[in-house]
Amino acid sequence: MNILLLGSGGRECALAKKLSESRRCEKLFIAPGNGGTSRYGVNVALSPLDFKAIEDFVAINDIEMIVVGNEDPLVAGIYDYFKQHPVLVVGPSGEGARLEGSKDYAKRFMERHDIPTAAYRSFTAETVEEGCRFLESLKPPYVLKADGLAAGKGVLIIPTLDEACAALREMLDGKFGASSATVVIEEFLSGIECSVFVVTDGAGGYRILPEAKDYKRIGEGDTGLNTGGMGAVSPVPFADAEFMRKVEERIIRPTVEGLAEEGIVYRGFIFLGLIKVEGNEPMVIEYNVRMGDPETEVVMPRLKSDLVDLLEAAARGNLGNVPAEHDPRAAVTVMAVSGGYPEAYAKGYEISGNLTPENSVVFHAGTTETPDGRVLTSGGRVLAVTSMADDARAARALSYKALEDIKFKDMYFRRDIGKDILD
Ligand code: AMP
Ligand code: GLY
Repeated sequence: MNILLLGSGGRECALAKKLSESRRCEKLFIAPGNGGTSRYGVNVALSPLDFKAIEDFVAINDIEMIVVGNEDPLVAGIYDYFKQHPVLVVGPSGEGARLEGSKDYAKRFMERHDIPTAAYRSFTAETVEEGCRFLESLKPPYVLKADGLAAGKGVLIIPTLDEACAALREMLDGKFGASSATVVIEEFLSGIECSVFVVTDGAGGYRILPEAKDYKRIGEGDTGLNTGGMGAVSPVPFADAEFMRKVEERIIRPTVEGLAEEGIVYRGFIFLGLIKVEGNEPMVIEYNVRMGDPETEVVMPRLKSDLVDLLEAAARGNLGNVPAEHDPRAAVTVMAVSGGYPEAYAKGYEISGNLTPENSVVFHAGTTETPDGRVLTSGGRVLAVTSMADDARAARALSYKALEDIKFKDMYFRRDIGKDILD
């Protein structure tokens, strides 16, 4: 079949490679793609949010399936836009996408289905005083979340009550625009985080993909500002069989069955941001309605089964017995970013060196290719270098080795990816 993949990051580069490896994939198009996705398909200059232009493209190019990489088109309702159209869209309906688009919606969903998550309450400008009183009833530090999408910046963790109450006022006063018109205040959970990915067919069927741990802070030792993610490791040693059994029983099954029971149309990826708290207990920190980035750059290499078969079955609403087999080997990815990221950074620097190393895969994130074949930086996160080996430490060593042969001005990467769980 012909497939259209929407997005332009490292995640989409990893999805493009995996889709292109399927015997079922005839033509793959990526909109808009990047300097690396063109190795696996044809980049097309379309905005993932321009549904009318996508509809025209689908008609002209006989597209049978649309795979959505990032959350914005899902939250904007791309599934519903194509509901009466023969093209398959992998993803949730606009209603299902609210699991990511509204933290308050996600918390209420979890409450209805007894899914373990931090205690919480939601507040608006009308209830700000009550919000401050609620903060008084909690122990520090205080967790404040803008209800809506805020490009990963909407969560504040604040040490003192006075500052938390002031931050609540600022948020409700429009600090994150409409996104923080409602603020969720929740209990602080302490533990270690990991990401679990599921594909569901919306009818109670699901497959669990390889789990991953992501490194969010810019600095080594998990210091400094939050980023989209600086590296990832899969499998995650602390997500052992007992932990994963609890995740499946207490979180995955009630989530998938809850969606089906409530008639919330959802045929695609679910990303569970989990925290393992004391006693090996999993709790949900957040839902996302897409794959993670850079987690996809380790999850896709570890998926042995055919991704087109899996996504088509999900999008048709019946996973049947389509498998999602995991490769037992480990995968490690390290992100190379532009100097200055996640704050201001320059673009347009030429990338030199070996972008096709023998023992690793270089997934492009913020890159563009010039007509004469040079590759330039065009984003904060530039390249994700993934390697696989029987042992995660060996995989990591291969990625760092490959990075030695890649250069661009002011390139930066963390040298401690995996250190906390592997060493
Ligand atoms: P979110 O956007 O909801 O994933 O939150 C961003 C980050 O904030 C998470 O990855 C956690 O590190 C942290 N966080 C969110 N909620 C909590 C919580 N209830 N307790 C502790 N940390 C949290
Ligand atoms: N790496 C975290 C995310 O994709 O949201």
